[in-house]
Amino acid sequence: MKPLHKHPTMVIHQEEPLNAGPPLHALRQAYVTPQEYFFVRNHGNIPVVNPAIYCLSVTGMVERSLDLSLEELKAMPSITEVALLQCAGMRRTEMANVKPIPGELPWGADPIGNAKWRGVPLCAVLDVVGVREGAHHVAFKGLDEVWRYGKQVGFGGSIPLEKAPDVLLAYEMNGETLPPTHGFPLRVIVPGYIGARSVKWLSSIHLQEEPSTNYFQAHAYKLFPPHITPQNVNWNKGEMLGELPLNAIICQPIEGALCPAGQTTVQGYAVSMHNVPIERIELSSDEGTTWKDVTLLEQRMWSWCFWETTLNLPAGPCQLLVRAWDVLQHTQPEEVEQVWNFKGYMNNAWHRVHILVQDELGI
Ligand code: MTE
Repeated sequence: MKPLHKHPTMVIHQEEPLNAGPPLHALRQAYVTPQEYFFVRNHGNIPVVNPAIYCLSVTGMVERSLDLSLEELKAMPSITEVALLQCAGMRRTEMANVKPIPGELPWGADPIGNAKWRGVPLCAVLDVVGVREGAHHVAFKGLDEVWRYGKQVGFGGSIPLEKAPDVLLAYEMNGETLPPTHGFPLRVIVPGYIGARSVKWLSSIHLQEEPSTNYFQAHAYKLFPPHITPQNVNWNKGEMLGELPLNAIICQPIEGALCPAGQTTVQGYAVSMHNVPIERIELSSDEGTTWKDVTLLEQRMWSWCFWETTLNLPAGPCQLLVRAWDVLQHTQPEEVEQVWNFKGYMNNAWHRVHILVQDELGI
């Protein structure tokens, strides 16, 4: 069964709960991703929320706790921002090809989208409640029911307080009311961070000294080195994920494509790290011996960078490689093995696409 309001070509990775991503060529069609092609990442049910009785509670290390209705939130000054959401499990399938990653969803380069969000800046709400000295983290909790190990853990996570000025509490997506799948009536948008911190169906904001102890902050969405396995992991260790890594993806041609010899158009997207602008993106068709600079198209703060180029490829099998450099000269690791981890997060190794170039005779 295809989800409502989604394009029939969306690839369903899991029906219950719903997890789906767009075909890569569709992702690359529009700088602002249409809702029908926006990926869906759920850990539990999609809650049915009555907007008339919906209430956001703001508690913890604040001068005065507060309950805000949707009406009250919408009456506050709003801002509109185009921002990218990307799941930390992006490109997990490439990692799973190196060593199995059981129990995790097989995402390709599809759990990503760039939307226009409208809502209230988090700081506007924090100004109303007054943050007390000693608060260092802002914890969010969603209304969805999520079960782990027989317990209802809910979905939550936190960000450091210093990230708050970038954060939006959104009630609109691409000029329309936020759809239920994406967090109606209110969700967090944390630009530049893994999607897990952008909590949907937001029910509470809690100011606290330490990061959230919610399962999805304290247990899942943690990064461990390649030698750590589910058998020897110490869950108290590992890095709580935040900032997205620098990444570049080939969307067209797709893996396994047959391309006519001659001019081949190659298109993709790239994601910067810490909002540092991307300076150049390079493509290689000879195993990385030589690299060609591609043309950077649109690139905006908190959004992705679209790029394209044409290559003149001889007939035969060919591997295309891509890598990005930012203005601080950061670049990406070469091999997936370097970044492999047993949860399959944050794969930003050079993206590789294998194609077959055919001459006029189909050889
Ligand atoms: N918020 C809640 N309440 N429950 C969830 O399962 N998934 C998170 C985040 N917020 C999730 C959530 C993850 S892992 C991602 S990547 C994004 O939502 C996906 O947002 P989307 O489904 O709107 O694309």
